[in-house]
Amino acid sequence: MNILILQGSPRAKGNTAWMAEEYKKAAEAAGHQVTVVNVSRLKIAGCLACEYCHGKGNGACVQKDDMQELYPLMAQAEVLVLAAPIYYFTLCAQIQAPIQRMYCVNAPANVKKMALLCSSYSPDVYDGATAEFRYICNYWNAENTGIVTAKNDEQKTEATKQKIIELVNKL
Ligand SMILES: Cc1cc2nc3c(=O)[nH]c(=O)nc-3n(C[C@H](O)[C@H](O)[C@H](O)COP(=O)(O)O)c2cc1C
Repeated sequence: MNILILQGSPRAKGNTAWMAEEYKKAAEAAGHQVTVVNVSRLKIAGCLACEYCHGKGNGACVQKDDMQELYPLMAQAEVLVLAAPIYYFTLCAQIQAPIQRMYCVNAPANVKKMALLCSSYSPDVYDGATAEFRYICNYWNAENTGIVTAKNDEQKTEATKQKIIELVNKL
């Protein structure tokens, strides 16, 4: 399958990037095609709610920022993986922005399955992120293949790697 991983942490060698990389390695080993985009390196503004896209824009966003390079990748993806550190008890803003900018097309055209990879310092801080993720899966009519979280003492461990491999095995 064609898999797109949106990696939201600005720390290129951090915990979330590691989780995204482990997912990529396992998915490629299983024969999938994987693209990882570090969305924290892109300039993606929040939605303006101007409704241009639902009128004159005919599905195109009025804002011509780096979201332009993500729209085609989102349109092609069959599996969408969100990889995000927890910032203030929810998905980091770098992941929220591209999701909310999908408003112009409502849903990614071909996404059938989704997964969530999340890292945090503390335990028990995932309720906001996981609730949002489940709502989005429902809204986009995509199967939730699962969620892997890694708090401080679970980061970059063999146990977390195995959980990520199990997620990939659900594709
Ligand atoms: C702005 C900011 C907010 C954070 N908020 C939380 C939080 O609410 N709960 C928590 O457990 N960790 C929080 N953290 C810690 C990160 O989630 C944690 O260090 C995570 O593993 C970082 O992932 P990374 O290495 O991929 O950047 C926060 C970190 C930053 C920079």
